Amino acid sequence: MQIIDEAKNIVLIGLMGSGKSAIGRTIAKRLGRRFIDTDRYIERKTGKTITEVFNEEGEGKFRLLEKETIKKISQYVGIVIATGGGTIKDLENFRYLKESGWIIALYASPATLYKRIEGKRIRPLLLNEGEPIKKLEEIFNERKGMYAQADFQINTEEKEIDQIVDEVINLLNTNSRI
Ligand code: S3P
Repeated sequence: MQIIDEAKNIVLIGLMGSGKSAIGRTIAKRLGRRFIDTDRYIERKTGKTITEVFNEEGEGKFRLLEKETIKKISQYVGIVIATGGGTIKDLENFRYLKESGWIIALYASPATLYKRIEGKRIRPLLLNEGEPIKKLEEIFNERKGMYAQADFQINTEEKEIDQIVDEVINLLNTNSRI
């Protein structure tokens, strides 16, 4: 039986490659919820890819767009949100998301993260990085304090999407009083 509070959002955070979008989309499908991926939302609003926003307007502008997006969509009720990996660097973003529901942090080793994103959509923060795995490790070290403040922590290493989604849904079912 599903006893998950329908008003609370389910928010996924974690580094690039941690599976936020794929897992978020599947959770939404399984629970019959609306799904929003904040990067795709920004792309639709601006008519540019995230890489184009970074290249043409800079990371600062991207972070402003990200902040506007978080402020807006955290007002929605009962949806699933996949954030961009750096969203939670901003304390206010974290607070808005926290107030809107549960925050779930997804983890994997830097080598696994890189294997998942290599050759896929361009990640501006890794562009022209000679040692992308090392860079991912550095970014993780900068952000791990924020990721650790999530309500739930999930290790995605060597797991299939459906298995991780089961884990999230079980966690929310057994802890829905949080
Ligand atoms: C970023 C992660 C990206 C995207 C942007 C910045 C980050 O999203 O928001 O390139 O700061 O880690 P994904 O985590 O979906 O790759």
